[in-house]
Amino acid sequence: TSPELARAASLIRSIPDVPKPGIVFRDVMPLLADARAFAAVIEAMAAPFAGRFDAVAGLEARGFLFAGAIAQATGTGLVPVRKAGRLPRPAARRDYTIEYGEATIEVQDDLPPGARVLIADDVLATGGTVEAACHVLREVGCRVVGATVLFAIPELCGRERIGDIELATVFEG
Ligand code: PRP
Ligand code: MG
Repeated sequence: TSPELARAASLIRSIPDVPKPGIVFRDVMPLLADARAFAAVIEAMAAPFAGRFDAVAGLEARGFLFAGAIAQATGTGLVPVRKAGRLPRPAARRDYTIEYGEATIEVQDDLPPGARVLIADDVLATGGTVEAACHVLREVGCRVVGATVLFAIPELCGRERIGDIELATVFEG
């Protein structure tokens, strides 16, 4: 890890008992507020997939913050994977389970068929969000080359859930 990335890691704030007692919320907003840290993590998120993708799929909401920056840094396009009911012309939809219930995501078919897509999000927890995103992207004809996240939470076994999808993480734990 470079000094710049080590500094970026130190800017992820841990907030105990949010959103409920016993849970530690990992807040990436202080990292995003720092220009050098933000630039360093965007470069690190894109690097493992350099030259292998045509567009970045950002997962609403926090994934949008990373996906747009990665797309601009790499000269690629952007496709938003949105929570249900927000897109004017959804072409694929997927229900999936989250920690306390159910969620639904949707995507439009605005990319050319066979476009190589990199999924981007802030954190991989149970992996349900990335798995569902992969499903809808494939349904609209994209080739998912992998997923890049700032960090994964190993205890929640997201890697196992997403199976064959290539995963890159900038920070561990
Ligand atoms: C959070 C986080 C990831 C997802 C990870 O999103 O930003 O997208 O959960 O969880 P998983 O691996 O168990 O699916 P959330 O929808 O809670 O909030 P956001 O809209 O602020 O991104
Ligand atoms: Mg999210």
